Amino acid sequence: MTIGIELGRTNTGAAGMMDLEELLATRLLVQGNSGSGKSHLLRRLMEQSAPWVQQAVIDPEGDFTSLADRFGHLVIDAAAHPEEAMAAAGDRVRRHRVSVVLNLEGLEVDRQLRHTAAFLGGLFDAERDHWTPMLVVVDEAQLFAPAAGGDTSDDARRASLSAMTDLMCRGRKRGLAGIIATQRLAKLAKNVAAEASNFLMGRTFLDIDMARAADLLGMERRQAEQFRDLQRGHFIGLGPALSRRPLAMRIGVVETQSRGSGPSLTPLPQTAPEEARELILAAPDPVAPRPARRPPPAPPADILAQLAQASATPRGPAIRVAEPEPSPEEAAERETRTRAILHEMLAEEDAAFRPIGVLYQDLLVRLRIHAVSGRPPELPAFRRMLAVARAGVPPEAANDPGWPEAAARADGLPEDTQGVFLLLAHAARQGLPCPSDAAIARAYGSRSAGRARRLLAWIEEQGLIVTRPAAGGRRIVVLVGLAWETAPGDPAAA
Ligand SMILES: Nc1ncnc2c1ncn2[C@@H]1O[C@H](COP(=O)(O)OP(=O)(O)OP(=O)(O)O)[C@@H](O)[C@H]1O
Ligand SMILES: [Mg+2]
Repeated sequence: MTIGIELGRTNTGAAGMMDLEELLATRLLVQGNSGSGKSHLLRRLMEQSAPWVQQAVIDPEGDFTSLADRFGHLVIDAAAHPEEAMAAAGDRVRRHRVSVVLNLEGLEVDRQLRHTAAFLGGLFDAERDHWTPMLVVVDEAQLFAPAAGGDTSDDARRASLSAMTDLMCRGRKRGLAGIIATQRLAKLAKNVAAEASNFLMGRTFLDIDMARAADLLGMERRQAEQFRDLQRGHFIGLGPALSRRPLAMRIGVVETQSRGSGPSLTPLPQTAPEEARELILAAPDPVAPRPARRPPPAPPADILAQLAQASATPRGPAIRVAEPEPSPEEAAERETRTRAILHEMLAEEDAAFRPIGVLYQDLLVRLRIHAVSGRPPELPAFRRMLAVARAGVPPEAANDPGWPEAAARADGLPEDTQGVFLLLAHAARQGLPCPSDAAIARAYGSRSAGRARRLLAWIEEQGLIVTRPAAGGRRIVVLVGLAWETAPGDPAAA
């Protein structure tokens, strides 16, 4: 019997199918840059296959725990258990045929590697009687099977690399099918990547990753250029479980939600009409007649422009009469007020970690309450403002003659990482201690120190910064080309 699951739709509207039985024998590698839709794809695959096959997910960020509510996966919070318990858990998972999510959130990277190695070892070493088919999904596989040494201990890295190699090279006989996803193919150990016969390639920017992808797929490098232009959620599939020829498909919808998802449409808060009237109409600014609607000011081209505008305009209440077009000063003032409101919002506990959709709705309500006239910022402009506000870079930074260069560099980065870069740039310019993992994570809207460290490593890979160790486990960040340097800072500081 062939069991096919529908991953998505091809360009012609046909179903993009995955043959489950073939997948068990031939494994899968998913690669694509951050935000290309890998985790969504894994989720779709797991949801569709959950009724057919047992599953284990190695989940570094706790993104997949919601599978438990809908499909009954057992969530193992690795941080709550010692490493020794992991091998036994792996063994019992096979014995009792329970689908699980190994949630590694909250563990230091070293312990993430050790726990994973022990758990995979338990799955692998199960007695022959229990060798029933199982999908073993590893998101962010480059963490567990890195191509080169990183900042983890040799022991932990060796253990997890060897467990991943066993999974991919020798797992098939034992019923284990490795499904691995990575942002950076060049960072994934070659022997681990090479054991997958099915590929789903998403958007890929860097030449080195593209070259590795072309090699694996047996494509001309020129052909691999198409990966650069893929949209989020679009992948090119190839392999015995997918298609004999490269097949473009858009991954379908999912039933459960990622905890780690970015901006999303969220329902408006349930505000009773009377309460809303209070909120919106109670305290109109007595001196500011509400101006007629005008077209919005053009969003500033970059963060520099925002910072510069902020510093160029004095703060204060808006006293303006209606005009056909907002002057640059007015637009700047509106921005300043918007930013002040945003600042106030982010000062509330936990606000920095709320989903961007919720923060945006909150801002819209507050803009109305504060009678800030004109069209509110569009979502992309809001995202940039949020990045700067979260990073806590003071607007005065724009007065510094060195800023244009730093801001121009930030502009080349994805919007949600710009704030982190500016946070580092500000600390380096002022000679302040290097921001801690917690501060970097917060500027990124996350609580995960691991994510902060990976982001730092990624910015370094982009050639924008160099991190250097300093005495006492502290670190220094230097801005490439500007020679600005932070003082030594403790990565673990609160
Ligand atoms: N096929 C799709 N349909 C609808 N939304 C999608 C699709 N693929 C991805 N998304 C959305 O895009 C966002 C980013 O996707 P996802 O988290 O899967 O990216 P990723 O490649 O895993 O990124 P990272 O490497 O940073 O973890 C998510 O909010 C996700 O819901
Ligand atoms: Mg992901």
